[in-house]
Amino acid sequence: MTDPAGLRAMYTRGTLDEADVADTWVAQLRLWFDTAAADPAVLEPNAIQLATAGADGQPTVRTVLAKGIDERGIVFYTNYESAKARDLGENPRASAVFVWLAHQRQVRLTGPVSKVDRAATEAYFAGRPRESQLGAWASPQSRVVASRAALDELAAAVEARFTTGDIPAPPNWGGYRLAPVEVEFWQGRPGRLHDRIRYRPVGDAWVRERLAP
Ligand SMILES: Cc1cc2nc3c(=O)[nH]c(=O)nc-3n(C[C@H](O)[C@H](O)[C@H](O)COP(=O)(O)O)c2cc1C
Repeated sequence: MTDPAGLRAMYTRGTLDEADVADTWVAQLRLWFDTAAADPAVLEPNAIQLATAGADGQPTVRTVLAKGIDERGIVFYTNYESAKARDLGENPRASAVFVWLAHQRQVRLTGPVSKVDRAATEAYFAGRPRESQLGAWASPQSRVVASRAALDELAAAVEARFTTGDIPAPPNWGGYRLAPVEVEFWQGRPGRLHDRIRYRPVGDAWVRERLAP
């Protein structure tokens, strides 16, 4: 096995300064996100790792795709009966991180999470490929399934049910919005002296502070 202790990368791709960042976290995120999305070296630029913890306090993290980014927060879509949904039902707060390793950058967002309104879910669902729409109906996300064959049977049953016409959004599927109260931008620098700029709200403005790496 490759010894992970021996792996070393030089972080020299960029810098981040209080004087250069945008006034709001969303403006800064849009800049970095556009840079990531324009670079073929960045796979799934909208992937975020989403950490939740239910009433028992046990954190769980998984990847989801950010499908909306605006001043209200980050929107992702999932099954409302999944493990993450159960966590969010018990404790509607989360932390999420974009990691763009090709750019030696990460952005962490932390704050309360709420369901998006149904119209937004339905509009987003209507634009998904039919295959993904069927998958959302077929999968009892996070539950134990007996076998791959059992899952394929569920998928076949859904396909038989929706042979023609539009497929509605499943009632147990939809969006969540993480509305950050703290957003941190991280740019790798040499010697582990990385740049970290954190945004937090004070009154109507977002205060920017440098954090020690
Ligand atoms: C690149 C990538 C993108 C994913 N996007 C989503 C997504 O947008 N929504 C989702 O529910 N699961 C997505 N998943 C699957 C989740 O990571 C996870 O397996 C699933 O949501 C069940 O999580 P849970 O049991 O913790 O609720 C994605 C996984 C990967 C690796």
